[in-house]
Amino acid sequence: MTKIGVLGSGAVGKVLADGFLKHGYDVMVGSREPGKLAGWQAAAGGRASIGTFADAARFGDVVVLAVKGAAAEEAVRLIGPDTLSGKTVMDATNPIADAPPVNGVLRLFTAHDESLMERLQRLAPAGRFVKAFSSVGNALMVNPQLAGGPPTMFICGNDAAAKAEVQAILDQFGWGTEDMGGVEAARAIEPLCVLWCIPGFRQNRWRHAFKLLE
Ligand SMILES: NC(=O)c1ccc[n+]([C@@H]2O[C@H](COP(=O)([O-])OP(=O)(O)OC[C@H]3O[C@@H](n4cnc5c(N)ncnc54)[C@H](OP(=O)(O)O)[C@@H]3O)[C@@H](O)[C@H]2O)c1
Repeated sequence: MTKIGVLGSGAVGKVLADGFLKHGYDVMVGSREPGKLAGWQAAAGGRASIGTFADAARFGDVVVLAVKGAAAEEAVRLIGPDTLSGKTVMDATNPIADAPPVNGVLRLFTAHDESLMERLQRLAPAGRFVKAFSSVGNALMVNPQLAGGPPTMFICGNDAAAKAEVQAILDQFGWGTEDMGGVEAARAIEPLCVLWCIPGFRQNRWRHAFKLLE
């Protein structure tokens, strides 16, 4: 069975790690301070382990990137970009700036014609990056139960085999998948987090997800 290395000790890292454990995978969660994950590991059971970002990146056949967007490039530098070579990297990060939302609208630190994932792909050219899980809140990432049925996860990336691997994971996690093409499509997918958050900030509505209808 595929081993999963999760880089990120926040809500997203833990929710996705728990989701992978639920679906029978071995999971290592990485942090700059792995000790703070001891409680999570104890509760998560024997298939769960903890380590540094580099330990988790080495452990995973599939690596989940779930660090603060502004720190994502730093985290890839920290593990050594070569560590990701040949690995499928599910990139859940968003380039959210450290500034308060304006009337519910978050600010990004990227321009409209670039994306965080393109920066990461340039940093680690042999990593097989796939944008995934970036356009929904963490509470709905694993097998969401919504009145409108299974929602759509928009993915993109340059490696077809890596995208097929991510699509198989999304099938297990209860999502429909729409492949938007190469890494540049992250310029459109990442800002969906801004749209997703507006009903939350304005009306305290946080239980929704996108669905592509035809
Ligand atoms: N929250 C959501 O519902 C949601 C939904 C979709 C996408 N996302 C995206 O998913 C990512 C994770 O979000 P989150 O809410 O779980 O937590 P977060 O607070 O954005 O990120 C926490 C992680 O970032 C790491 N980090 C922070 N500063 C760092 C630095 N200077 N250098 C290296 N690592 C650093 C932390 O490392 P340590 O472990 O060492 O503390 C921790 O693992 C973000 O990019 C976010 O935009 C979030």
